[in-house]
Amino acid sequence: MAEKTAVVPEPVKLGAVSGSGAASKGKLVDNKTISAVVSSTLERAALVVEDLSEPVYRRYFAADPDAAALMAHMDDLTRGRMLNEVLRLLMEWDPVSDSAYLNFEVRNHQYAYRVESRMYRELLVALRDVVAQLLGDAFEPDRVAWESRIAGLLAEIEARAG
Ligand code: HEM
Repeated sequence: MAEKTAVVPEPVKLGAVSGSGAASKGKLVDNKTISAVVSSTLERAALVVEDLSEPVYRRYFAADPDAAALMAHMDDLTRGRMLNEVLRLLMEWDPVSDSAYLNFEVRNHQYAYRVESRMYRELLVALRDVVAQLLGDAFEPDRVAWESRIAGLLAEIEARAG
């Protein structure tokens, strides 16, 4: 199969970006700044809850029982390793250098585990909503960066998931 060409996302306008220091209200920001904002949000969430796994999978499985069934055999360690990769992509996603990784992982998830395209969106939305709930109003200035990162990642994943 031909390699997919990664689409470098357009800069987006963020609101007042707490924690990053790099962006201010209304300023155009690029992929690296989005990474900085999302990393900062997750660092602050980690001060509230040590391990995101439990609340994220709880929310995810409640929203999507089919995904819960696919992951039923996975122990906490394996679920944790998967979430670590998801968090890494959210914090550091580089459309070019992560292209080969996504080619492998999305295909592997489709053929080995029967993961459906929509399940990625639900996972990322569950994660976003858990973090938003943990941080309350403090999440809001970072929301645009999150939406942008999730949209960018999902476009790449859904293009591969068929
Ligand atoms: C960007 C999104 C995702 C990433 C980066 C990712 C990454 C991974 C990784 C790295 C593993 C291997 C864990 C290990 O054995 O160390 C894994 C396993 C798995 N993932 Fe995901 N995953 C993603 C989304 C999903 C979604 C949406 C589902 C839907 C249910 C899913 C279901 C599974 C299942 C069933 C396994 C199999 C474990 C096994 O039997 O060995 N993943 N994932």
